[in-house]
Amino acid sequence: MPAPLTGADLPQLVTEIPGPASRGWIDVLAAHECPAITSRRARRAAAMGAAHDDPFVWSEALGANVRDADGNTFVDLTAGFAVALLGHRPPSVVAAVRAQADTLLHAMGDAWPDVARIKLLEALAALAPAGLDVALLGLSGADAIDAAIKTARLATGRSGVLAFDGGYHGLALGVLGTQGYKAAFTDPFRDITHGAVTHLPFGCDADALDAALDSGAFGLVLVEPLQGRGGVRVAPDGWLATVVEIAHRHGALVAFDEIQCGLGRTGRMWAAGDVTPDLLCVGKALGGGLPLSACLGTRAVMDAWGASQGEALHTQTFLGHPLGCAAALAVLDTIVREDIPGRCEAVGATLTGALTARGHHVQGRGLMLGVTLKSTHGLTLGGMQNLAVCRALQRRGFIVLPAGMQAEVLCLTPPSTITPAQIDAFAAALDQSIAEVIA
Ligand SMILES: Cc1ncc(COP(=O)(O)O)c(C=O)c1O
Repeated sequence: MPAPLTGADLPQLVTEIPGPASRGWIDVLAAHECPAITSRRARRAAAMGAAHDDPFVWSEALGANVRDADGNTFVDLTAGFAVALLGHRPPSVVAAVRAQADTLLHAMGDAWPDVARIKLLEALAALAPAGLDVALLGLSGADAIDAAIKTARLATGRSGVLAFDGGYHGLALGVLGTQGYKAAFTDPFRDITHGAVTHLPFGCDADALDAALDSGAFGLVLVEPLQGRGGVRVAPDGWLATVVEIAHRHGALVAFDEIQCGLGRTGRMWAAGDVTPDLLCVGKALGGGLPLSACLGTRAVMDAWGASQGEALHTQTFLGHPLGCAAALAVLDTIVREDIPGRCEAVGATLTGALTARGHHVQGRGLMLGVTLKSTHGLTLGGMQNLAVCRALQRRGFIVLPAGMQAEVLCLTPPSTITPAQIDAFAAALDQSIAEVIA
């Protein structure tokens, strides 16, 4: 039996990665899960000439640690797709979920609300930029974007969405057409996706925005203030304010997708700083590990939905799920009480310092970083090499993902609880992994 996780553990590997237990589970998974997901195995094996790149199977996580089915301990620099901002299983969230589970697991969406949902809506309004105090809750990031698209349609009477290259907003059908990250995600469904979407370059000049919006077709401009999956790209200074100004001049609303970058991860509560959109989408960290999202908007914009006529125009069975709402209440409280933006800023500086000291280029903010890797000779590593570095790091007990349309950066979004010792160990493992890959 391995020792209980502390959350601050360094990697401890007791089998090869993936180990026999993980491989066994992956065989079961491959038999029963849609191959679009499990075929990673065959695809990776074909690409790398090795079947042992199967994913390892998670069984436990705490703080910045993940443990797999074989008892191997990892340090997670992804925070599980940027969800575990407060660490995996943060104590305040676990306590809130336990208490909620003792009283009410499920309420009735739009028909009969419950207390946790009402308290959460109030807490979200208090934390949101001024004026964005009315929300539509969802379960996934895509749900929140979907709500933003529908809201803009109702409020402006226009269906067009202006989005940006490299933007990623989820893969559900209603939002799929807005992603500008990988055409391959949209192509098979092009005929049934939202057709009225135009993409401009992220950070494009004001004239291009002006020209596109001049058509009067767009009700919504959808933008990630700090692009995540598209390569951890920071918007040029002043650009977000320009987007809002030009959109408003042309009668379009602006939605900021802060699903990944919001709630303190970038060192600020909201990545867009003091630029306020009409709609603000949050998710990921919001539920502290439970699925929950929200699309926040101004009263004026949300009023475009009109009052419920008895049957809600937009709802779902699990709308405002009590467990998720209780968890999110604890998350928001912890973010404020423990100054999580400040911690992300400070820990991000430590992580950035460790990487730049080794000659790597680091972009992003706080604990949302994209690293362009350099060899000791100053050569820039490319996408395939970055993928190989990710696998080499995994074999050393560190969980990382690439980002960017060509996997051009290593994406680091660790939990804010990651310790200096874990960061040092990661930086050392990165040196070894790069040396291994370019050898
Ligand atoms: C910026 C951004 N928006 C939206 C989404 C979609 O969220 P979900 O996968 O929960 O639907 C993601 C997911 O990675 C994201 O990073």
